[in-house]
Amino acid sequence: MPFDQYVTRVNAKLDGYLSIQGSLTEAMRYSVLVGGKRFRPILTYCVASLFNTNQQSVDSSACSVEFIHAYSLIHDDLPAMDDDDIRHNQPACHKRFDEAQAILAGDGLQALAFEVLVNDPLLGSQMKIELLSTLTHAAFEMAEGQAIDLSIVSQTVDISVLENMHRKKTGALLSCAVDLGAITARCSKQDRNILRDFSQAIGLAYQIQDDVLDVEAPVGILGKNQHSDSDKNKPTYPSVIGLSESKQAYRALYEKASNDLNLLSVDAKSLQLLIEKLQTRSF
Ligand code: IPE
Ligand code: IPE
Ligand code: MG
Ligand code: MG
Ligand code: MG
Repeated sequence: MPFDQYVTRVNAKLDGYLSIQGSLTEAMRYSVLVGGKRFRPILTYCVASLFNTNQQSVDSSACSVEFIHAYSLIHDDLPAMDDDDIRHNQPACHKRFDEAQAILAGDGLQALAFEVLVNDPLLGSQMKIELLSTLTHAAFEMAEGQAIDLSIVSQTVDISVLENMHRKKTGALLSCAVDLGAITARCSKQDRNILRDFSQAIGLAYQIQDDVLDVEAPVGILGKNQHSDSDKNKPTYPSVIGLSESKQAYRALYEKASNDLNLLSVDAKSLQLLIEKLQTRSF
C-alpha cells in the first residue's frame, strides 16, 4: 500500500505551501518539515483513494489538517503548556527560535491551513464550505481538549474525563482527516457515517497509545521526551487504569475500527493495513 508515496507527496505539497516569503516562514517551515509521521494526511489520502478520488483534489485537505496538527504541537510544547524542549529529535520550535516566534508560527500555520483550502482552484465553493466547516470544528475541539488537559494537571480524575479529553485533543483532528477524505471523495452518507465510527475509534486509540509510548518508548525513538506526562503530573490512561489495561484498551479500539471498515460499500484493505501498522508503532 502506498503510505510512503502519500508521505512523499504531502511533504512536497507542504514544502510548496510554505515557500511564501516572510519573517515567520523559517519557524513555520522548521516545525512542519523537520519531521512527523504524517499520519493525518495518510488517512485523508487513504480514505479518498477508497473511492478512486483524484489525489490532486485531496492535496489541500491533506495539508490543511497537517498544518493544524503542526501548530498544535508547537503550542503544546510551550513552557505554558507541556514545557517540552524536544520534538522530532530536534529542539522544539520555542527552543530553536523563541517563545514569541513559536506562538506566532503556530498562529501562522493555523491561518495557512484555512487559506490552502479557500484558495484551492480544484474545489467548488460548496465543497470548500463543507471542508472548512469540518476543519474549523476540529481545530476548536482540539483547543478545547488541550484546555481540559491543562486544567486537570495533578488532579485525580475519572477515566470518562480522560476519554472525553482524548477524543477532543487528538480524536477530533484524526476524525477530521478521515472526514476531509470522505468529503472530497463525495462518498455516500452511509459510508461517511461508517468512516466516522472508524475514525472515532482510532482517534481515541491513537492518544491512549501516545500515553503508553510516553511510559515505554525511549527519547531517541520517540523523538520527544519520555515520561513527559508523569513528570508534569498529568493524568493519563496508564496512570488511571494501568499500563496493560491501557494497551488492552487501545487494541480493542483498533479492533473495533477494523470491524467498522468491513461495513463499507468498498474494499478498505489499505485502511486495514494502516490499522495493523498503527498497532505496532513505536513512536
Ligand atoms: C503527537 O501526534 C501528538 C498527538 C496528538 C498524539 P503524532 O505522533 O501523530 O505526531 P507526529 O506529527 O507524527 O510527530
Ligand atoms: C497531544 O497531546 C495533543 C495535541 C498536541 C493536540 P500530548 O501532549 O500527549 O502530545 P505529545 O506527547 O507532546 O506529542
Ligand atoms: Mg499536551
Ligand atoms: Mg505534549
Ligand atoms: Mg503525549
